[in-house]
This record gives sequence, C-alpha cells and structure tokens, in this order.
Amino acid sequence: MRTVITFGTFDVFHIGHLNILKRARDLGDKLVVGVSTDALNFKKKNRYPIYREEDRLAIIAGLSCVDGVFREESLEWKGQYIREQKADILVMGDDWAGKFDVFKELCEVVYLPRTADISTTELLAGIRAAS
Ligand code: CTP
Repeated sequence: MRTVITFGTFDVFHIGHLNILKRARDLGDKLVVGVSTDALNFKKKNRYPIYREEDRLAIIAGLSCVDGVFREESLEWKGQYIREQKADILVMGDDWAGKFDVFKELCEVVYLPRTADISTTELLAGIRAAS
C-alpha cells in the first residue's frame, strides 16, 4: 500500500486541480490532500481565498481520486504531515520543482507538470475583466 500526499489551496476548483490530483492518485494506492487553511492563505498572500476553507475541503474530499483530506495549517509542518499520514510519495506541481527536495529523506518526491494555461489567479482576473 503506497500513500501519496499533496498540498494546495484549490480555490475556485478547476481542471488543473483535477488533473494533478488524478495523476497523483495514479502514482500510489491512496491519496491524501492537505488543503491550506484560510488563515494560512491570508498569511501567505494577504488575502483570503474566494471559497471558504470548509467548502474547499469538502470539494477535494468529494472527489473519487481522493481518499482523505486534512487542513494544512502551516507551511513549516510539511515534514510532520508526511510522517503523520505515513506518506510514501510527496507530489507537487512543477512550479515548485526542487523546492521540496529536503523531504527526500522522508519519502519519494515527485514534481508533476502543471496543466497549461489555467490557474485560479488567471481565472479570477478573467472574471474581473468580464464583469
Ligand atoms: N496545478 C496544476 N496545474 C494548474 C494549476 C495548479 O497542476 N494549471 C497544481 C499546482 O501545481 C498545485 C495544485 O494544483 O500542486 C494546487 O495549486 P493551487 O496553487 O491551489 O492552484 P493555482 O490555480 O495555481 O492557484 P493560484 O493561481 O492562486 O496560485
């Protein structure tokens, strides 16, 4: 049984999010996802996500490729989450390539290519421009 772990905000859920979660799940037998809290996002970007934390968690938990979700409360606790979840593989989008190599002492670290031409930031910009 190989457990895969990944992390993200997954605000305004889109096809890039679904693609990476499905590909992450295909690397193992079980996928657990750390969804960053509203407070963590505020700390990181000085703004809250559009979808509130409970809804982002519920959307990710409702996907057939996801076996479990938990709140990511601090960027500093990734190692702890990897241990708690007994993860064998950490998956991140390749926008993070190399940044999580420190966790290679705990598990395999895989960077998957992002889906082209979509992000929450771009979606929100498009919605704002159209309104
Ligand atoms: N992701 C992806 N392809 C995209 C967008 C995101 O594979 N086109 C992946 C990211 O690499 C990450 C996960 O989805 O592993 C969650 O990303 P997140 O930052 O929540 O989504 P973004 O759309 O990138 O959001 P933002 O624009 O706010 O950074």
